[in-house]
Amino acid sequence: MTTQNGKTPWWKQGIIYQIYPRSFQDSNQDGVGDLPGITSRLDYLQWLGIDAIWLSPIFPSPMADFGYDVADYCDIHPLFGTLADFDTLLAEAHARGIKLLLDLVPNHTSNEHRWFLEARSSRDNSRRDWYIWRDAKPDGGPPNNWVSAFGGSAWEWDAVTGQYYLHSFLKEQPDLNYRNPEVIAAMQDVIRFWLDRGVDGFRVDVIDWMMKDSEFRDEADPYIRVYSAFRLEVHDIIRRFRQVFDEYPDRVMVGEVNYFGTPAYLAGLYGSKTETGSDMLDLPFNFRLILTPWFAADMREAVEAYEAGLPEHGWPNYVLGNHDQARLASRVGRSEARTAAMLLLTLRGTPFIYYGEEIGMENVPVPQEAVQDPYGINVPGMTRDPERTPMQWDNRPNAGFSTGGQTWLPVAADYQTVNVQVQRDDPRSMLALYLRLIALRRENAALRLGDYRSVTGEGIPPDCYVYLRIYGGERVCVALNFAANERELDLKNSGRVILSTQLDRTEPIVGKLKLRPHEGVIVALADL
Ligand code: GLC
Repeated sequence: MTTQNGKTPWWKQGIIYQIYPRSFQDSNQDGVGDLPGITSRLDYLQWLGIDAIWLSPIFPSPMADFGYDVADYCDIHPLFGTLADFDTLLAEAHARGIKLLLDLVPNHTSNEHRWFLEARSSRDNSRRDWYIWRDAKPDGGPPNNWVSAFGGSAWEWDAVTGQYYLHSFLKEQPDLNYRNPEVIAAMQDVIRFWLDRGVDGFRVDVIDWMMKDSEFRDEADPYIRVYSAFRLEVHDIIRRFRQVFDEYPDRVMVGEVNYFGTPAYLAGLYGSKTETGSDMLDLPFNFRLILTPWFAADMREAVEAYEAGLPEHGWPNYVLGNHDQARLASRVGRSEARTAAMLLLTLRGTPFIYYGEEIGMENVPVPQEAVQDPYGINVPGMTRDPERTPMQWDNRPNAGFSTGGQTWLPVAADYQTVNVQVQRDDPRSMLALYLRLIALRRENAALRLGDYRSVTGEGIPPDCYVYLRIYGGERVCVALNFAANERELDLKNSGRVILSTQLDRTEPIVGKLKLRPHEGVIVALADL
């Protein structure tokens, strides 16, 4: 748990808040969020009590995939501002004790990146081999049956040079070739560029897609990737990236990894223990709770299986929402989203909060003809626009997100009642709950760092999920009622309720504990 100098790293104790920069705060009336906008909202984030922000990509990009198609890794898209705006944001964040992570997108570039323009200019260009080119099949068809994550073949024909190139995502996102050492070195330089500037780490996009089968074998089932992604060979590339992080103190490497990865698969991505922690990822994202049905037993099993699979040096993490997934309140329900917030912020491991979850933002419907997300355009129904809409700050037009006319995605219809300003003044609001949970986690070592232990058996109804967090002599019990009815529990311990998801009770208990429908409580247990 501690590093060689005896300190627990900040990212084990902290809470990371994801900002989708297009939708957080617009400062120049163009209907798209930007860096000065984020800077202007740092006081809010400091008040909320989070420890770090992670920004989805802010680099120059034709925006085919809204920034996940990078045209220059070492600059800022003019839509978001300038490098000077970035330096200001970073300095202002640091001044408030907030760390900043950027989003590294190493698997692919934009098709407008200089590297790709050179590579596609001719077969003997020195950068040709930076991307993945293959000849057509004798019938002219693509080299194999691999499919793009966004629909259709993963291969695009290049008429000028007469070969196909691989794109695991959009055809505007050609995959880099990590079997070429020059590509590894180029990406290491990108990491150094930002770490030198003072960035505290990276979230690395689809990190386990970077290596492909060297023989380009057909998949048995194109939707179950064995050859086109998730190859264990990628571990070596991750280690090479890691070496750059280790040139700097206290930087964190988070990886977006297979949503369906087993606990053993995730364990592998932590790599081996080193003096600084691990020789691979600090935090391979754990998406398991997003995929788990909202039942007490399923959640408990998901947490237990994950905990059991972690290597000794592996620190857990939990994600309940991001820019690729339906809003939490839309997935599980409004009152359930409160229980979910308590779960996320009381489990053992670094919690990731997606912007707007703290006010209970819900999916905003976007009619098919207005869909912006290329995935949703290619495959109707798959749009990620509903979870990417403007942050709801107050009851002014555009929810205070922008004073320009049209925002890039619609603002939620209910923004007059669901917004930061209204919820700040309401002691029972979702925001008030997040604020208390975050504060409690900060002040309570058991919640921050304590061991995890499930509580089951007699006295615990099957539709309640109960666990302990234990740190030295301190024991905190979290009891979550997943049922739509009242439940009575017997905790067989006395203690004091210190927080309810309904924010209306703090009372001593002796054994028995009543929970209202979907209520969660945190109980500080008395010393044994
Ligand atoms: C990741 C990102 C997603 C993006 C994709 C391609 O899954 O989270 O938003 O579209 O990678 O870069």
